[in-house]
Amino acid sequence: MKKVGIIIASVREQRIGDSIAKHVLKLAQTSKALEYSLIDLKEINLPMLNEPYPAAAKNYQYPHTKAWSETISACDGFIIVTAEYNHGYPPAIKNALDYLYTEWNNKPLAFVGYGYSNGVRAIEQLRQVVSYLQLKPLWKDVGISLITNAKDGMFFTTEMVDNQLNGLIKDLESNLVVKM
Ligand SMILES: Cc1cc2nc3c(=O)[nH]c(=O)nc-3n(C[C@H](O)[C@H](O)[C@H](O)COP(=O)(O)O)c2cc1C
Repeated sequence: MKKVGIIIASVREQRIGDSIAKHVLKLAQTSKALEYSLIDLKEINLPMLNEPYPAAAKNYQYPHTKAWSETISACDGFIIVTAEYNHGYPPAIKNALDYLYTEWNNKPLAFVGYGYSNGVRAIEQLRQVVSYLQLKPLWKDVGISLITNAKDGMFFTTEMVDNQLNGLIKDLESNLVVKM
């Protein structure tokens, strides 16, 4: 069965991103078409990119890069769950993307953004970066408002958000599951 990694882009203490990503995982797991798992950049804890050669050369020097390469190689597609920081994406996701190249190539990718403006600017900026890595971003994305879907720093979902997330998951699956 094909595998999808749900990448948590924020690594702050008391981040809301992990609860949103866990919710996406819960919804995705109700479908049995693909195998989903969380990829938590906080746990993976990559240093700021320190490889001497460009990722496309695949001449990795450090164990952390080799391990990250294996994690991403094992996935056929991704969902990036991203916060918006200062109208851009969190640094940890750019760093994690920059470490690799061929491992990302030609794999479909869905975005779930969140923030006070639904994370749309972070998603738009990431679209530019992932296109260069030859990821295949889906046209649709989901932006979650922290004004309507969070209280006291805690995420809560609504029927509308779940409908959008389920639609995104379906879209991703239609890019990964070959119909007979
Ligand atoms: C450094 C920083 C910059 C932020 N900039 C924005 C922003 O530009 N737009 C926005 O909607 N929210 C912004 N916020 C608020 C975040 O949307 C909110 O803190 C959210 O919880 C961040 O996701 P996280 O908890 O997973 O890190 C910012 C938060 C931080 C920490």
